[in-house]
Amino acid sequence: MRIERDFHATRRGPVWALAFSPDGSVIWAGGLDSVVYGWPIELLDRFEPTMGTPHSFLKDPGSMSNGERQFMRKCSICHALEAGDSRKAGPNLNGVFGRLAGTVPGYRYSDTLDGSDIIWGEETIDALFDLGPDNYIPGSKMPMQQIAAPADRRDLIEFLRVATGNGN
Ligand code: HEC
Repeated sequence: MRIERDFHATRRGPVWALAFSPDGSVIWAGGLDSVVYGWPIELLDRFEPTMGTPHSFLKDPGSMSNGERQFMRKCSICHALEAGDSRKAGPNLNGVFGRLAGTVPGYRYSDTLDGSDIIWGEETIDALFDLGPDNYIPGSKMPMQQIAAPADRRDLIEFLRVATGNGN
């Protein structure tokens, strides 16, 4: 494999989802924005996406704590924090502290988390992103990502403890 073209497929942040249109003529890309970007392959050379102002539903990153910023950038696209139904790709994290892995009702987990004996809390969430999901819970559906700095993991966990509602 080799890189054909390098360009900004979304306005900001990582690309979390890629797909070809059914006829193969367009690449769709999704990331932190609440839109899907479509890039006609034939015209890729001519495009330079305009980098506009971010959507207002996201707070200004400068006004967030480091932990909240970690969550917004690295987790919020896939995980909800408030109780109730969520249509995001990952299970709802509401009440995750002290919860047995793989037990959000109605969520279809991988075989790795379904029946796992991990209990989510400070140490296990820290290990999950210190080692990365593919090492800590191999076979999981959660994409590979590590958070290298211990302080970033600590801040993220402190944010989650409050934002998921039942930390202790
Ligand atoms: C691209 C989507 C995606 C991103 C980004 C993501 N996750 Fe996940 N996460 C998932 C999926 C999918 C699962 C279910 C995995 C499985 O079934 O194997 C999951 C599972 C989990 C679980 C286990 C929940 C349970 O009920 O057992 C925790 C905890 C978790 N994620 C935390 C996080 C945190 C914290 C971040 C940000 C640092 C994050 N995730 C980023 C998709 C994602």
